[in-house]
Amino acid sequence: MKIGVIGGGSIGLLFTAYLSKSPHEVVLFVRREAQQQAIGTMGLTLKYGSSVYTCQPGVRLLSGADHNDIDVLIVAVKSYNIEQVMPEIGEKFSRTRSILFVQNGMQHLRVLPKLQMHSIYIGVVEHGALKESDHLISHTGLGQTKIAPYLDGHSGINWEKLSKENFPFTYQNDWYAMLSEKLHINAVINPLTAILKVTNGALLTNPYWVYLMKQLSKEACKVLNIKDHEAWKDLVTVCKNTSLNKSSMLRDIENNRKTEIDAINGFLLNSAQQKNIEVPNNRFVFQVIKGMEESMESRGNNG
Ligand code: PAF
Repeated sequence: MKIGVIGGGSIGLLFTAYLSKSPHEVVLFVRREAQQQAIGTMGLTLKYGSSVYTCQPGVRLLSGADHNDIDVLIVAVKSYNIEQVMPEIGEKFSRTRSILFVQNGMQHLRVLPKLQMHSIYIGVVEHGALKESDHLISHTGLGQTKIAPYLDGHSGINWEKLSKENFPFTYQNDWYAMLSEKLHINAVINPLTAILKVTNGALLTNPYWVYLMKQLSKEACKVLNIKDHEAWKDLVTVCKNTSLNKSSMLRDIENNRKTEIDAINGFLLNSAQQKNIEVPNNRFVFQVIKGMEESMESRGNNG
């Protein structure tokens, strides 16, 4: 089986490195030639604690010719880049039967009906990962990838069999429940860590921040219709498991990149409006992060 991974960011590199430990051939699709060359010449290195593993996956430019030799495709780009890669997925992966999406938030759901694949899976990634360079990925928080079928055309893929030590896949039945739970986690951890500029675990060390977490959490649970007691326990577990990790949103802000706020708290605000639910704390963090993005942009434009 040939597995393709689209996205040379932290999650794409993490998947590529771990899946390269399987007997399957893995091909990473990137946008930049510089990254293709870096991995092509130096290999892709995965660091976890004191262990270091270097592999040599195939690396191709996504913009290259047809990729119709790929059996299974994992789409690991940021949620706001999904629309950008959709035409290439539609045109160049004509023989791919199964596809897995691992974005934060829920905005990517709207592209799924456009796909031709037999089997469509949704995943949520609970690992912490830091891209140290184009060819070096650090696994900074041990978690799991939960996978649920969105459209199960019985493609025969056993995701759990692809599990590796420290990189497990687990099946879930209900993709909506699974995504809602993850959205709740991201809606609390991501904006707070990005605004306060702290690691995930630090949120739990300060009672004022825990108060803010609880407010955001309660609102998100109401909108998503999930039980707040259990959701809170899961949230605390993720904070602890990725305690030294910086959230993806904090990293985006630190690196002057666009964040996934629209797909996370923005999605919640829209759903809350449709359901007539007040979410003042989510609105507040949404405005703060949008404002941070805006000021980054204008600083960039000025010079
Ligand atoms: O977006 C992230 O950073 C991750 O989804 C999570 C689980 C919050 C860990 O940092």
